[in-house]
Amino acid sequence: MTQNWLGLDGKVAAVTGAGSGIGRAVAIALAEQGVSVVMLDRSLDSLTEAANAVSAVGPDPLLITCDVSDVASVENAASQAGAVDILVNCAGISRPGGIADVSVDDWNSVLDVNMNAYFFTSKAFGKGMLERGHGSLVHIASISGRNAQGNSGAYSVGKAGVLMLSQQLALEWSARGVRSNTVSPGLVRTPMTEAYYNVGDVAARRDKAVPIGRVARPEDIAQVVLFLASDRSGYVTGADIVTDGGFTTTLMSSVPRPGYDEK
Ligand SMILES: NC(=O)c1ccc[n+]([C@@H]2O[C@H](COP(=O)([O-])OP(=O)(O)OC[C@H]3O[C@@H](n4cnc5c(N)ncnc54)[C@H](O)[C@@H]3O)[C@@H](O)[C@H]2O)c1
Repeated sequence: MTQNWLGLDGKVAAVTGAGSGIGRAVAIALAEQGVSVVMLDRSLDSLTEAANAVSAVGPDPLLITCDVSDVASVENAASQAGAVDILVNCAGISRPGGIADVSVDDWNSVLDVNMNAYFFTSKAFGKGMLERGHGSLVHIASISGRNAQGNSGAYSVGKAGVLMLSQQLALEWSARGVRSNTVSPGLVRTPMTEAYYNVGDVAARRDKAVPIGRVARPEDIAQVVLFLASDRSGYVTGADIVTDGGFTTTLMSSVPRPGYDEK
């Protein structure tokens, strides 16, 4: 295989939610490829910790504290960042609550961060990409965007919105040199979900639920982001790469089928 197959060396990438979990792993993976990373997060503490890990493997990152759900904060971050070749939208939150009970505030908070912010950042960082005629947008969606996740307020609705936002961006911007794609993770152990794994045998049961035999590590998702960020995926736009260890293939396994059960 060609050395430096991805050809990302020397590029600049902005990553939102870069202080934790998947965004942190994406920032590290990009830096390992020689990418200068602009790390955005609302938490300076987590940005600072993650930046040490990034600096250990690649170019020193630029840190910008930014609330991605605030359009002025995003525009300010984009102007501080300067020319960016790649945008990875990763910042996200979750709030519990079924439709009957979830508050309007919680519903809107989830849509503001998980969906509207992806529009704000795409627009603010995409502007320069369109002017230069080259860029790659990668949005972290979720298998929850196609499979309703109960008692999670607007989480699935927001992720479904991201899947369509990405397709619309691909439709409108691909002819101008800017591609847009999504990665849909399945179960990933990160600070967002860590609390589930510390309850009883949940970690083992979750591993068993996935055909590949384990839930994902943030690095599993980051590797797929690298491909979509790079020119190696130059003919891929408007696509979604489901990265779930096969979890969404398991629907038929949930019903009994006498005579066909696994031996
Ligand atoms: N963990 C999973 O199982 C899983 C599965 C599918 C999709 N995802 C998605 O992956 C993305 C990353 O999730 P994670 O599990 O790494 O979560 P995480 O909580 O570990 O990291 C999310 C980061 O986003 C930042 N953030 C939140 N709101 C922000 C805001 N308003 N402005 C700026 N930064 C903000 C947080 O400070 C945090 O650093 C999210 O979009 C999430 O929905 C996660």
